Amino acid sequence: MKLHIINGPNLNLLGKREPKIYGKKSFKTFFTELQFKFRKIELSYFQSNSEGDLITEIQNTKAEGIIINAAAYTHTSIAIADAIAAIDIPVVEVHISNTHAREDFRKKSYLSPVAKGCIFGFGMQSYELAIQSFLNKENV
Ligand code: DQA
Repeated sequence: MKLHIINGPNLNLLGKREPKIYGKKSFKTFFTELQFKFRKIELSYFQSNSEGDLITEIQNTKAEGIIINAAAYTHTSIAIADAIAAIDIPVVEVHISNTHAREDFRKKSYLSPVAKGCIFGFGMQSYELAIQSFLNKENV
């Protein structure tokens, strides 16, 4: 099974950025651990700070599932929501922090209504839980 992880703006700074909220681990280190943990799954990873590049990536993905953390674009981007709605691949929305326990502007997600499911607030483990959701064949 091929799963593609897409991370949005500022998530290239994981490990350095607001570590009290997002932890101290870089995504590169975490991704290596994920690949080891889920050896039978072909995991790939894309990060961009640009909305258009994220949309192009969503449109071009050939994997059986997408795990997306669109970061701040979650709360603003109708265009990313439209891209998710336009494809047939199931998309799971993840967030490291519990966006519902933070500022009001983070409570709105344009992506949740078009996502297969949503995982918020488990730190980097949110990505692992998303991968596990694809292992249950009934969810794919
Ligand atoms: C985030 C939450 C967003 O509100 C924020 O803009 C991010 C990260 C998270 O993973 O907790 O950049 O998506």
